[in-house]
Formats: sequence, structure tokens, C-alpha cells
Amino acid sequence: MSAGAASGGAVTTVVTDDVELGAAALRAGRLVAFPTETVYGLGADASNPVAVRAVFEAKGRPAGHPLIVHVASLEEARRWMALPDAATERRLAALAGRFWPGPLTIVVPRSDLVAPEAVGGRPTIGLRVPAHPVALALLRAFGGGVAGPSANRFGRVSPTTAAHVLADLDGRVAVVLDGGPTAVGVESTIVDLVGPQPLLLRPGGVPVAELETVLGEPVPDGRSGEARASGMLASHYAPRASVALVEPADLASVLASARAERGEAGGVVGVIATAVVDHQPSWVLPDEAGGYARELYAALRAADAAGVDHLVVVPPSHGPLLDAVLDRLTKAAAPRPA
Ligand code: TXA
Ligand code: MG
Repeated sequence: MSAGAASGGAVTTVVTDDVELGAAALRAGRLVAFPTETVYGLGADASNPVAVRAVFEAKGRPAGHPLIVHVASLEEARRWMALPDAATERRLAALAGRFWPGPLTIVVPRSDLVAPEAVGGRPTIGLRVPAHPVALALLRAFGGGVAGPSANRFGRVSPTTAAHVLADLDGRVAVVLDGGPTAVGVESTIVDLVGPQPLLLRPGGVPVAELETVLGEPVPDGRSGEARASGMLASHYAPRASVALVEPADLASVLASARAERGEAGGVVGVIATAVVDHQPSWVLPDEAGGYARELYAALRAADAAGVDHLVVVPPSHGPLLDAVLDRLTKAAAPRPA
């Protein structure tokens, strides 16, 4: 049981593995960063409007973006949702039964328990039971719902270690529960059960094909139209460096021209690849998407720390999490707002 303090902002941030300390902070309306199997979350009591507003402030995130509410079980989740109709109940039971605890967020009509600020004033709520022993212990000790976006400053890459959380939020969060590096590495899949058919709002830790198998029906992409999830905003998952995606076969030629153009102007070119490349700085990630996902955000943060201005990225070639990884890489490579 090691507890250390770090300073640098308005509050003294305590790094610990003591979930009771985290639960007490949540009860006091304070912010607690906690590990999940996907990425670290920035938690607040989801029924406390003051605590929820503090989440937006700490992240620098525009108010109005709905937060995921984390709970310990399906039974607890039911307190946060409106009584489902028969079709929603069938889908909910199937998905929660198969994937909870796990990297799946389910959007349903909400009850009055949640602070409206936590759901951006919407009539719906995104609920998730995370599959991480520290997260589950925290949720059980706290006993309620924990509103938790990823524990990064707005616009930065999601944190997959406690050190990433501190880099962004030291002095802005009361407690950081350190549970080591996260296992999945990309955020949860978000499925919307509000309408007549299930919709995919964000690809993530559960492949959409598995949702379709369990539901026995298609789960079409619900991402077109209104940007209902902030992860839909282009460049939401971006490092500081600009990003270019390339096929492995094109890496050598793209790299040669990037070195010539960018290097001449004094810029630092970096590479994320799936095989060793004769260039520094470079990061080699597994070619399989699950392994790639686990290491991607740490590599993007390392590239920023190394002063990389332009990052040439080879995506993974296969694996069930390919959609989720390509989604994040495409957003990282999208044009940035001016
Ligand atoms: O894996 C994850 O989902 C991580 C961990 C911490 O659980 N959390 C996460 O939270 O990625 P965040 O806030 O960075 O992304 C949550 C996404 C946002 O895109 C948000 O718009 C969407 O969930 N969301 C939450 N509630 C929603 C709702 N009621 N309707 C539609 N989208 C919702
Ligand atoms: Mg996020």
C-alpha cells in the first residue's frame, strides 16, 4: 500500500492503490482518476452536480458533452435507466449478460438519479460496468454511479497509465488510483439502444461483429449525422504532432519525402510502424490490432514527449480490434481545427 503526493495545481493529488481513499473522496464530491480495462477514467459522483461540473473543469472539456456513468453491476445500472420496453430489455439483457463487466457502453433512456450535467442535459445515459478489479472495488466501496470520461485534458490522447493521468491532471484531481497499464488500450464500444434498432456510436474494445452475433441482428453505424459522441469529432484522439497514415509498402517512400520536406524545415519526423524501421525516433507496435491498441496511446504520448512534429503511422493489418484502432488513427490523422 504505497501513497505518494504530487503537487502542481489547486489540489494536492494523491497517488495510491487504496480504493477506500478513492471512495471517500467520491463521497466528498472530489475527483478520482481510476483504472479501467480500456483507459483511465476521471471519476465523480454521477448524482452530484457540483462534482460533475468539476470534471468538465478539470478536463477543460466543453460542458454539454455527455459522460459515461460507471456502475458495479447490471442491477445497479437499472437504477440509472428508465424502465426499458420489451425490445430494449431483450437487447440489454443479452449485451450486459455477455459483455459486462467489459469494454461496452450501453446508451438507454435515463432515470432521475443522474445529475443532468453528467448527461449533457439529454434524456439518455451511457452506462458501463468496467472489467478492472480496482474499478469494480471502487464502485462497490462507493456504492453509486461514477461519471467518468477518459482522464486526459480535452483534446489530448486518453491515458493508459497513472503517469499519463498525472501528466495531464496533476493538481486537478484529488486521488489517482494506480492500477498499472490498462489491458485493452482503446476506449469502450458504445452501442445505442434508444431507437427501434441498435446503433454503433463508437467502435471500441468489443468488436461490432460480436455485438451482432449476441443480438442476432445488425448494428449499423450510427455515427453519421449529429455528433452525439465527442469521440466523433475529427482529431479528438490526436497527439500534438500531425499524423499521416501509410500502408507498409509505402512507408519507405513516404518517409523519404517527409524527411526531405519536414526535416529541411527543422521539423522532427517520427514513425509508428509494425516492423523495425531504419529511422529515429520510431516506435514498433504489434501488427495484430489488439496488441497495437494496447500500446498506441503510450506511443502517441511518447512521440509528443520526443518533440515529434510529424508522425508517419503504419496501421495494424488484422485482428478483431482493427475497426477501433483505425477509427482512432483516422481521427488522429484528420485535419485539425485552426
Ligand atoms: O472506455 C471508455 O469508455 C472510457 C473509460 C474511462 O470508461 N471512457 C471514455 O469516456 O472514453 P469519454 O467521455 O472520453 O467518452 C465517452 C463517450 C463520449 O463520446 C460521449 O459523447 C459518449 O460516450 N456518450 C456518453 N453518454 C452518451 C449518451 N447519453 N448518448 C450518446 N453518447 C454518449
Ligand atoms: Mg475521451
